[in-house]
Amino acid sequence: MEEILEKARKTGDLSRAEITALLSVSDQKHMQMLFDTAYAVKAEEVGRVAYFRGLIECSNICIKDCFYCGIRRSNQNVERFLMDEEEIFKEAMWAYEAEYGSCVIQSGERQDEEYIAMIERVVKRIAEATGGSLGITLSLGEQTEEVYKRWKEAGAHRYLLRIETTNPELYAKIHPEDHSMDVRKECLKALRRTGYQVGTGVMMGMPGQTMEDLADDILFLKEIDIDMIGMGPYIPHSDTPMGKEIPAYTDEEKKVALQLGLKMIAVTRLVLRDVNIAAATALQALEYTGREQGLKCGANVIMPNLTETEFRPKYQLYDNKPCTDENSSMCRGCLSGRIKGIGETIGFNERGDSLHYRKR
Ligand code: 5AD
Ligand code: FES
Repeated sequence: MEEILEKARKTGDLSRAEITALLSVSDQKHMQMLFDTAYAVKAEEVGRVAYFRGLIECSNICIKDCFYCGIRRSNQNVERFLMDEEEIFKEAMWAYEAEYGSCVIQSGERQDEEYIAMIERVVKRIAEATGGSLGITLSLGEQTEEVYKRWKEAGAHRYLLRIETTNPELYAKIHPEDHSMDVRKECLKALRRTGYQVGTGVMMGMPGQTMEDLADDILFLKEIDIDMIGMGPYIPHSDTPMGKEIPAYTDEEKKVALQLGLKMIAVTRLVLRDVNIAAATALQALEYTGREQGLKCGANVIMPNLTETEFRPKYQLYDNKPCTDENSSMCRGCLSGRIKGIGETIGFNERGDSLHYRKR
């Protein structure tokens, strides 16, 4: 273990077996060594700066039916909403005025022209109003290359599309038959061709997922030369098929899930070095300080919620999602304090583009 960490301090060139070994550490002492090494590599590669990406969850309407997700099409217990253009624009401008580096427009997946054109118009408006200085990230699921191009031309810079898992059997278990991992991989390729900074990621701690699976996930991220990573612990949602099979986490299970989430961030930082890695909101569903712990393990991006408070309870991807009663300025103040508390600075007014992308 110590040997592997010494090697990882200098190079990201770790084998599948070495990655698996690092992910499998469970004693406190070695885990802390792993986290500290990842933090040292982060400080060296991308600095001790956390970038804010204001998250706008603009609609929970979704054509997909993923077995883990609270806003899946079949969940009848969700009141569906769609923000209008004005509301999305207003929230993006809030991020700009709050000196955030970028905003992220996220929603359930929709492939109809009405929605595609609405996004295109609002992206254009935000890009014009901010002169390109506010990063615009989209997280709107699988689309055709044509649509990705339209949104890029409108002014979007980055795109997030999680692969969720690279194990084909597990992928098939957590999704209905009409969802395809190959399509998702094609989308990631199309996004790269279109010129976006591309982000992907996985969920960890799903039933049946092994450390080897997670090691393969990390190697996949490296192989496709990804720029940004958003990954988080799987958390059961009581209104979903997977959430019904496994009841809510006990305190002990929460602890284990958080540790696995942190270990994945740390090992990913060691292997991928100069990419942007987000400390996912789901970490905070497991422990209040989960997101700052993510930064201390190698993440360098945090996504304060910008969604208008009235919509927040309707965007429950998993149970206990934090900040559903708060508003944008509360999250800004809260996270700023917490980041200062761990001795990092916030990259205000900087887009914080992926260094990995810039070097390419
Ligand atoms: N637990 C954790 N993350 C989830 N997501 C969806 N459902 C859950 C869940 N139950 C994540 C998926 C998706 C992202 C927007 O939210 O990884 O890509
Ligand atoms: Fe939203 Fe603390 S981050 S209230």
